[in-house]
Amino acid sequence: MRALLFWVICQFLFSLTLAGQSPTANQYVGGEVCRKCHPNVWLNFYKNPHYKSVAAGNQAPEKTGCEGCHGPGQAHVQASGGKATIRAFSTMEPKQVIDACLACHSKDLSKANIRRSSHTLAGVACSDCHSIHRSPVPKFLLAKTQRDVCYGCHATVRSQFSMPFKHRVNEGFMECTDCHNPHGVPAPTWRMGARPRMVEHALANEEPCLKCHSDKRGPFAFEHPAVRVDGCETCHNPHGSTNSKLLRRPVVFTVCLECHNGAGNFGRQGDGIQILSAAHNMADPRYQNCTACHVRIHGSNADPLFLR
Ligand code: HEC
Ligand code: HEC
Ligand code: HEC
Ligand code: HEC
Ligand code: HEC
Ligand code: HEC
Ligand code: HEC
Ligand code: HEC
Ligand code: HEC
Ligand code: HEC
Repeated sequence: MRALLFWVICQFLFSLTLAGQSPTANQYVGGEVCRKCHPNVWLNFYKNPHYKSVAAGNQAPEKTGCEGCHGPGQAHVQASGGKATIRAFSTMEPKQVIDACLACHSKDLSKANIRRSSHTLAGVACSDCHSIHRSPVPKFLLAKTQRDVCYGCHATVRSQFSMPFKHRVNEGFMECTDCHNPHGVPAPTWRMGARPRMVEHALANEEPCLKCHSDKRGPFAFEHPAVRVDGCETCHNPHGSTNSKLLRRPVVFTVCLECHNGAGNFGRQGDGIQILSAAHNMADPRYQNCTACHVRIHGSNADPLFLR
């Protein structure tokens, strides 16, 4: 009998140690309690991917359910509400929001990438793009459709995707996240030392373009360093362009002559980027469309001059 009593006392003390706090500190009360005063939020919550234990009560409330994000609710309930008694996102700094969400999501999202992303550095937080309680879209709790979320802050990008030649994002064939990761990317710099622009490049540091344009992937027996080293954006506008093939310039040769002007000591032989031989008569319109002859401009397995 005394042994049993001792055991019960031990269990009680042990549970206190586990909680790591005195019984008077703010406690978890479970999501069911929130229902009385926040019926609108509560009633829709069963559809939320964060719904696990609100009703079932079979899991620790700090894992999912209301208090997983809003923190322990006892003080809030005892005070019959108030923003100061609970973690109210409407009063939180971007950094606090990010910390609250990453408490769980650092398993599926990389903390390091998020912290150094241009979005975090500019004070953009999870709740600027995600709406936990009022998401109108079926996936990922986004505050609006994906492109409307992004266009809300990136108006110039919207106009780029309305140009005559463009990737069909506005038409719904592609999304920003086919090329970007709004949660940040691993590399602090990328390509020729440029900012990574949150361009997704997880697989072997490869450009996202190659997921779809796989014929440009190589490796080729004869690489064009402009493609392999500088990257697709050297010659193409990734979003949209007034020039066909999304080129940065209206005529092909002006793209090429930016580099093929004899400057520098770059390249395989260290003798600079080849200047054109006299045979290339620029006054002759025939020579202005370089890719009419240099057809394998993205790399060739047959010819070092990309002629076939
Ligand atoms: C995944 C984290 C998360 C969970 C889980 C969560 N909330 Fe929220 N809640 C938020 C965020 C973030 C906001 C700020 C508004 C927004 O971004 O949607 C918020 C806002 C609120 C608000 C302010 C009013 C409003 O509607 O915006 C109330 C009240 C609220 N939550 C109650 C609850 C209740 C009750 C539950 C459980 C049924 C719950 N929350 C579960 C993250 C969460
Ligand atoms: C006794 C009623 C009552 C209960 C129970 C209650 N709340 Fe509240 N809650 C309120 C009131 C009233 C406010 C409004 C405070 C204000 O706007 O100043 C509020 C505000 C909030 C806010 C801040 C909203 C904002 O503007 O950002 C959150 C978050 C919240 N409640 C979550 C919860 C959660 C989670 C639970 C369950 C653990 C809960 N509440 C239980 C009455 C209650
Ligand atoms: C700039 C907007 C933006 C911000 C800021 C943002 N997200 Fe996202 N998030 C998105 C978009 C867009 C998707 C959908 C991705 C897709 O369609 O593949 C997404 C998807 C997700 C997903 C589900 C898919 C996945 O990638 O695992 C989770 C979880 C998520 N976000 C959590 C967060 C958290 C936590 C934060 C804050 C640390 C955050 N997000 C900040 C835009 C954003
Ligand atoms: C208590 C842990 C916890 C916290 C805190 C938390 N989440 Fe989640 N989140 C989850 C779980 C669990 C899932 C469901 C994952 C699954 O089903 O694979 C989830 C799923 C998501 C998804 C994916 C939705 C989908 O449709 O796939 C998004 C987006 C998301 N959370 C955003 C957030 C944001 C934003 C915050 C901060 C306001 C946050 N979460 C805070 C645990 C949490
Ligand atoms: C086809 C791939 C692709 C798609 C789709 C795409 N982007 Fe981009 N985006 C890029 C690349 C690549 C860069 C980097 C360009 C560079 O470095 O010159 C970039 C750059 C950017 C920049 C930085 C621009 C600057 O000049 O600083 C923003 C902002 C941006 N994208 C937003 C968006 C938004 C918003 C969407 C969706 C509406 C989107 N992007 C869709 C590939 C894409
Ligand atoms: C709340 C406003 C906001 C939303 C929503 C938003 N962004 Fe941004 N975005 C910013 C700010 C601010 C910057 C930093 C601008 C800068 O540093 O020049 C930025 C920068 C970027 C950059 C350029 C990164 C760089 O290094 O230059 C890309 C790419 C980008 N955002 C993509 C997206 C995509 C994709 C979405 C939608 C999923 C999105 N953004 C939604 C505010 C936003
Ligand atoms: C999600 C798949 C996908 C990704 C990622 C992608 N593209 Fe595209 N791209 C397409 C499709 C499909 C077309 C066909 C044109 C259309 O949609 O109208 C296209 C068209 C093009 C064209 C014009 C071709 C023509 O014949 O007019 C160029 C150039 C191009 N993409 C370059 C890029 C570059 C550079 C990137 C990376 C920044 C990229 N693409 C990423 C799917 C993709
Ligand atoms: C040195 C400049 C340059 C670079 C770098 C470059 N391209 Fe191109 N690309 C061109 C030119 C010029 C054309 C137009 C060819 C024509 O009209 O015959 C073109 C055409 C295309 C086309 C449409 C025609 C076709 O061949 O399918 C796609 C798609 C394309 N490029 C994708 C890419 C991708 C993906 C990358 C990066 C891996 C890339 N380009 C890098 C110059 C370049
Ligand atoms: C970003 C700079 C850049 C651009 C733009 C560029 N190239 Fe190149 N190109 C190079 C470099 C670097 C080499 C390699 C030179 C070497 O290895 O000595 C090269 C090699 C070549 C070669 C093979 C001859 C040689 O010297 O190895 C041809 C042909 C060529 N480029 C044609 C073109 C054409 C046509 C265009 C326009 C569609 C173009 N290039 C655009 C940088 C560029
Ligand atoms: C009518 C076909 C044709 C056109 C158009 C053409 N080339 Fe060439 N190119 C060749 C041939 C053939 C060679 C190899 C023999 C030579 O050097 O003349 C060559 C060689 C080259 C070389 C290697 C160095 C050299 O000059 O021998 C470069 C670089 C080059 N071309 C770039 C260009 C650029 C840039 C354009 C557009 C302004 C262009 N080519 C237009 C046929 C063409």
